[in-house]
Amino acid sequence: TGYVTYDPGFVNTASCTSAITYIDGDAGILRYRGYPIGELAEKASFLEVSYLLIYGELPTAAQLAEFSGKIRMHTLLHEDLRRFFDGFPRDAHPMPVLSSAVSALSTFYQDALDPFDADQVEISTVRLLAKVPTIASYAYKKSIGQPFMYPDNALGYVENFLRMTFAVPATSYEVDPVVAKVLDMLFVLHADHEQNCSTSTVRLVGSAQANLFASVSAGVHALSGPLHGGANQAVLEMLDSIKADGGDVQSFVRRVKDKEPGVKLMGFGHRVYKNYDPRAAIVKQAAREVLDRMHQPDELLDLAMQLEEIALADDYFVSRKLYPNVDFYTGLIYKAMGFPPKMFTVLFALGRLPGWIAQWREMMGDPANKIGRPRQVYTGSAERAFVPVEQR
Ligand code: CMC
Repeated sequence: TGYVTYDPGFVNTASCTSAITYIDGDAGILRYRGYPIGELAEKASFLEVSYLLIYGELPTAAQLAEFSGKIRMHTLLHEDLRRFFDGFPRDAHPMPVLSSAVSALSTFYQDALDPFDADQVEISTVRLLAKVPTIASYAYKKSIGQPFMYPDNALGYVENFLRMTFAVPATSYEVDPVVAKVLDMLFVLHADHEQNCSTSTVRLVGSAQANLFASVSAGVHALSGPLHGGANQAVLEMLDSIKADGGDVQSFVRRVKDKEPGVKLMGFGHRVYKNYDPRAAIVKQAAREVLDRMHQPDELLDLAMQLEEIALADDYFVSRKLYPNVDFYTGLIYKAMGFPPKMFTVLFALGRLPGWIAQWREMMGDPANKIGRPRQVYTGSAERAFVPVEQR
């Protein structure tokens, strides 16, 4: 007490200790529980990585089978919750729909309201991992007016999500194994990123001892912002608008450098990485493969690559250490897979979910945890005399 540190945006303030994710932003290193991200992206499944983040160790085959089995048991939504989707306007953005439905889970599972009861935290963890893909696909189905698909628990985690999203009743649908594999890998890349805005939000809400569903639903809202997860949608919109303006990448870069209001190179820059985002390098490689496989015209990919090339050679970006971040190339892959731009940030949320859960659980188990309550530097009036309304 006595003095406070003024640190807008928490640029220099550590809010917690954590043993989950390590980032060295200058070197472009990211590790989950000590394992390099590149190796996990190549060799581990999303559920394996979820287990690693939440429980601290890679699962044995038996542990993984048990964990996946529990998740499979909980993929259905309560029929009453399913009906919530009828109430949203058809053109609703799926992010607030996702957040509302996650929030509503705490009305259906009131047994999960004690954040310190280990069994309750465990079942809430399983319910969230199981139900969020169902919710996400229903948010999408609602937006295009198609009937909801119930989960098919014979399928894997990502395969089930793809089927619920893209299949239509009475029409056959086969999950493309390459699409499923790439999406699983993208979820791994998004699974945690230490104290980013949405994760800090989850922790802050949870620090008041709000339950896991409430905390995660707040995290979804934080993620929706265009400076955070919403950037993946914003990148595609930026590329579309450059294309519509005749594909003049140079003049767009000039507008960014002139700091024209509202014009930023979306998908570039990061608070922590002052080097190439290691996730972006993996995504860039995958983008080329997926687009080739899907026989998609890669006009937008070419534009993105031109933008990157120009930016990485331009002093404005070089001197500020602005490099492509994870969001720069993901939208192109999601688009090639058939997702509309409105769903891109929902996909980020599906990937980030185990990270939010792991961080919330770590905080709840930390004896040093206290309610988050930042201080301020007051800049308003000194004391003044009240003037009755008729004399103002
Ligand atoms: N385009 C143009 N200029 C930029 C950009 C950009 N994308 N990012 C930063 N700058 C400039 C900024 O104007 C400032 O310049 P100056 O020193 O002349 O005032 C300088 O670089 C430092 O930027 P900052 O805004 O102080 O950096 P920050 O750490 O507060 O912001 C950021 C980080 C990610 C919000 C920002 O880089 C940004 O807005 N990027 C675009 C949105 C985006 O891609 N977000 C995704 C982040 S990664 C994953 C995720 O969270 O989803």
